[in-house]
Amino acid sequence: MAPRIDILSLFPEVFPAALSSSILGRAISDGLLSVHVHDIRQWAELPHRKVDDRPFGGGPGMVFMCEPLAAAVEAVEALDARRARRILLAPAGQPMTQPLVNALASTERLMLLCGHYEGVDQRAIDALEFEEVSIGDFVVSGGELPALLLVDAVARLLPGALGHDASAAEDSFSITDDHGQPLLDCPHYTRPRVWRERTVPEVLLSGDHQAIASWRRSESEHRTRTRRPDLVSLHGQPLEDEASMLQRSTGLDATAVRRSAPCCAGHMSAGTSRPQRN
Ligand SMILES: C[S@@+](CC[C@H](N)C(=O)[O-])C[C@H]1O[C@@H](n2cnc3c(N)ncnc32)[C@H](O)[C@@H]1O
Repeated sequence: MAPRIDILSLFPEVFPAALSSSILGRAISDGLLSVHVHDIRQWAELPHRKVDDRPFGGGPGMVFMCEPLAAAVEAVEALDARRARRILLAPAGQPMTQPLVNALASTERLMLLCGHYEGVDQRAIDALEFEEVSIGDFVVSGGELPALLLVDAVARLLPGALGHDASAAEDSFSITDDHGQPLLDCPHYTRPRVWRERTVPEVLLSGDHQAIASWRRSESEHRTRTRRPDLVSLHGQPLEDEASMLQRSTGLDATAVRRSAPCCAGHMSAGTSRPQRN
């Protein structure tokens, strides 16, 4: 049976376009996963279908109340026999990283709760056993867009979701260095060969597949070291800095390496016509 994702939201109208477009839309229409969006207000009491109230202790904003949420979660849970892994999208949650997405992609059933306003009554989060997941260190107005990001990231990992010539295994965070640490993707180029006097790295035109693979790996490693030195510490061992890497590969002492690093770094050897990368 295909994995199932239930999304609980106060703004279900946000979802249809994203869930019916591009790779995600095709994955759903091909039956690789099913996604069901539920309006939480359905389970709020008449006549006003109130779902939020002012925070105890004062302060701005409104807080999602426990009872309508519990009623929604319990009713939606009962729609499928598989127990859902429950996730509240929240800035205070664990960061959404590729390893987390990989784990979610092999989960049979997810239930995503989109917060709004100030947030959700903590008692509901605890009692209903929601894990909290954040899409980054910034705040958006509601959990709908974060939920869509999560669904998209999961869907593209499902077998058959991507076409032949696109593989999630070759994307940033999935490609790894020799120590199994995640790397950013390399730069890409397409026709024409010269655009506004900017050329394409020669190696990519050489037809030498081994040289191309080695250039791409080297570019990935360079990008990761220079743009995201924090990346590996999120996932495992820190990346070697450029000087230590050169020291290891050349046998030079650290001072000599630092002096020579700008002119003899491995990533510079593959092509000199490349535009600025950073
Ligand atoms: C305005 S935010 C609430 C912010 C909350 N008072 C705080 O400071 O952490 C409203 C809702 O948007 C969603 N949201 C906002 N930023 C998010 C993020 N970085 N990751 C995941 N969800 C987020 C959450 O569902 C949240 O309940």
